[in-house]
Amino acid sequence: STRRDYTWVIEDVEHNPDGVYRPMMVINGQFPGPLIEVNEGDTIVVQVVNKATNATSIHWHGIYQNGSNWMDGTVGVTQCPIGPGANFTYEFRVDGQSGTYWYHGHHGVQSSDGLVGPLVIHSEDEKSLQRIEYASDRVVIVQDHYYDLSGALIMDYLKPDRENAEPVPAGALINGQNVRNCDDLPNRKCDNSTARLAEFNLEPGKNHRLRFINVGALATFQIQLDEHEFAITEVDGTDVLPQYHHRLKIQPAQRYSIVINTNVTTGEAYWLRARMVTHCFAEENIEMAAEVWGIVRYTSSSPLLVNVRPSSRDWPETIELDCNDMDTSGLRPVIAIPAPATADDVLYLRVNFEIGAWKLSRGFFNASSWRAPVSSPTLNRLIEGYSTSNESFTSSLSSHFGYNSAAFATLRELVYQTTGIRTIDILMQNFNEGSHPMHLHGYKFWVLAQGHGYPPKDVFSTLDLTNPLRRDTVAIEAFGWTLLRFTADNAGIWAFHCHLSWHAEAGLLMQFLTKADEVARWTLPAENIGLCELEGHDRGKGP
Ligand code: C2O
Repeated sequence: STRRDYTWVIEDVEHNPDGVYRPMMVINGQFPGPLIEVNEGDTIVVQVVNKATNATSIHWHGIYQNGSNWMDGTVGVTQCPIGPGANFTYEFRVDGQSGTYWYHGHHGVQSSDGLVGPLVIHSEDEKSLQRIEYASDRVVIVQDHYYDLSGALIMDYLKPDRENAEPVPAGALINGQNVRNCDDLPNRKCDNSTARLAEFNLEPGKNHRLRFINVGALATFQIQLDEHEFAITEVDGTDVLPQYHHRLKIQPAQRYSIVINTNVTTGEAYWLRARMVTHCFAEENIEMAAEVWGIVRYTSSSPLLVNVRPSSRDWPETIELDCNDMDTSGLRPVIAIPAPATADDVLYLRVNFEIGAWKLSRGFFNASSWRAPVSSPTLNRLIEGYSTSNESFTSSLSSHFGYNSAAFATLRELVYQTTGIRTIDILMQNFNEGSHPMHLHGYKFWVLAQGHGYPPKDVFSTLDLTNPLRRDTVAIEAFGWTLLRFTADNAGIWAFHCHLSWHAEAGLLMQFLTKADEVARWTLPAENIGLCELEGHDRGKGP
């Protein structure tokens, strides 16, 4: 195992990825952020130097952080934000997992301001876990794209009478690239002379692995490479037996590896299409271009057909309108891990948006709508409470349903607590007209079942537990339900939230405190505590 050192300077920049200038927060001047590529067992050390005007944090999406919960990077849960001018060093070992992950800012919605990047973990057994051999391996990041800073958008979104009308993206990017026509955007400062579509040069007659990551804040994408079929071979870090498709559907925070074969003979350049499922948006954006193209070229083109583009840009098949997950029910992990026959605990979670006090629309898990306690993260409150036996710290966390009603006449913090190793079921019912990609930090869970309407009465007795898909982000469709199960064996406090970043900010976040008995024996590193003593915690956002 190797130690991998990185120094990341986070800065505010003015950048025009698709031609349109916008303020962004980026790492080392790069957008998307630098690729972290390591082997299983390696230790990742990232020194973050915050030269931006806002406080920040970096979360390692999908990484277990086993024994390093305080490196999870979640503001309000595991750390105070890294103030402007401050430094913080993340150090953690990646173990027991491999595949495609990513990282992103976890303070407000900074991920939509540019703080995103890929994280790839290779395993020694990669060759046998990936059942199709491939000649090349690359990352393809898709995302929705906004022209305004998330801070301003969130202020507007959370205003009274907005009725959960999320900020709607203006466009989309592949690997941070697209070309907008500046004439379509008269009210924007725009110069597309340096903008490009993403291009992928692939050797013909070979297999190629493309690791798709949706790092967006709202949009689900449908993706296809014209005239090519592909095999899905990995889902959120779980290698799966190849299953063939011609269209991929990917919700925010999800990852899919596909392997395509460059054996098509009808041309040498093909559109890689990524289209947002705009049907899921509550509002429209007149500046919006819903589709972004990339170009896949076969390297046999001689010379490379630099200016030749595939002909028709029309979507060759019907476009997808449903805001549900890709159907993964037939995908089977290469390494079979049966789910435990029954759960020790079943948590019923009602997911909804409700208009509460002052006509504010808030996201709710049962009666709880989260607001980040920026200056006293849950982990720090817990450790302090345990070490001082100060009831006022721990009492709100001592039951399954923590209570802290400072700001609203509702629960502000829902914490589900377990000691020892337990198996937990989360049965979610969605009473909202949008779909919600739910993400659990620190774990992968088994996706046991999903459906429309209400779960059937016999849902627990009809499950196939032999080898269900394991992932870290799964959607509940509009007015539907999802059942997931996990073994709560990773000590720490872990966020569980909707990965539509706007929804998490609106309150759709709760926490799991697992193996609390072990957490009670921890002391936090001085660097973590130091962050909470710095100025600059206030993100200055309303209401
Ligand atoms: Cu990508 Cu709280 O996570």
